[in-house]
Amino acid sequence: MAETILVTGGAGYIGSHTVLELLETSHRVVVLDNFSNSHPKSLEVVKELTGQAFPVYVGDVRDKGLLEQIFQKEEVTGVIHFAGFKAVGESSQIPLAYYDNNLVGLLHLLEVMQSVGCRNLIFSSSATVYGDPQELPLTETAPLSVTNPYGRTKLMGEEILRDLFAADGSWNLVILRYFNPIGAHPSGRLGEHPQGIPSNLVPYITQVACGLRDHVRVFGDNYATPDGTGVRDYIHIQDLSRGHVAAMKRWATGSGLSVYNLGTGQGYSVLEMIRGLSQTAGQEIPYQIYSRRPGDIAACYADPTKAREELGWEAQLGLEEMCRHAWKWQRLNPNGFQD
Ligand SMILES: NC(=O)c1ccc[n+]([C@@H]2O[C@H](COP(=O)([O-])OP(=O)(O)OC[C@H]3O[C@@H](n4cnc5c(N)ncnc54)[C@H](O)[C@@H]3O)[C@@H](O)[C@H]2O)c1
Repeated sequence: MAETILVTGGAGYIGSHTVLELLETSHRVVVLDNFSNSHPKSLEVVKELTGQAFPVYVGDVRDKGLLEQIFQKEEVTGVIHFAGFKAVGESSQIPLAYYDNNLVGLLHLLEVMQSVGCRNLIFSSSATVYGDPQELPLTETAPLSVTNPYGRTKLMGEEILRDLFAADGSWNLVILRYFNPIGAHPSGRLGEHPQGIPSNLVPYITQVACGLRDHVRVFGDNYATPDGTGVRDYIHIQDLSRGHVAAMKRWATGSGLSVYNLGTGQGYSVLEMIRGLSQTAGQEIPYQIYSRRPGDIAACYADPTKAREELGWEAQLGLEEMCRHAWKWQRLNPNGFQD
């Protein structure tokens, strides 16, 4: 029987690209999303790009009744769980909403999976669980620490999964720690459109490049990095999506709990990203230096060896493609999916 994958949060940035990748690799997909941070059009675009239809349930992952219906009707064999809130700054302003959505969502999903006997899960975690790294590059065994409510929901989510597996070794749980996903589908039709002021660097830069904002705000130029600005491991959204399909291989091994970094292993500074996007856009992108933001760290990049060795996955696309596709998406869709 073909596998049927439930993708929670499948209309979002990473979810929509992963749904596309799953369909292109001959998986049956079911999406659950409440569109709290996405637009239904992303899924229409996925259908157009793949020429394939799939069921979409509009609802909340915390709704156990709805989850039970989906599992029964669709005969789900595995779940990729993206649904949740992800803005670090906002999580300090409305922590209860973050704990509720990210943790109650995960708990209800696991309870329903347990009751229907579905044991295969991929969980979206984040490099934020490494806190301020003591050593770089980061391996999966590096110490974990978090500094904000969003990060705590991810670390607690991981711990819930570790406790669950310790209690019942029949689960097949894969924790993926994403570094910094950027870019868009090469068609320019699918990408990330943050609501309001972007909290991530690349959407901010592309919005400046197309005149929606004045200048890029660079927070700190006195870090212990080659040019003084913060260094991060940017990964093309298509590589990240492929990482999920590769991680599903673990489900075939019987049972287990595994953790993988999904990053390229290469760090780029804020100024390098501004230069890369300036070259792609063929124009100067103005920026100004501001003081450091509390909680920001100097540098963070992955050691992606484990994913390469165990999943046969590694990032294939470089900075040029990331910038080209991010810019194409921004240029063609200045208002995201609203047009
Ligand atoms: N984008 C990043 O930089 C990044 C980095 C590390 C981890 N992650 C994690 O990856 C996951 C996906 O991130 P993304 O960038 O695609 O975010 P996103 O906001 O674009 O996608 C999340 C999707 O989940 C939906 N959603 C939220 N709460 C829901 C609920 N209760 N019920 C149903 N649907 C709900 C939203 O409408 C949205 O479509 C999140 O869990 C996020 O924390 C993201």
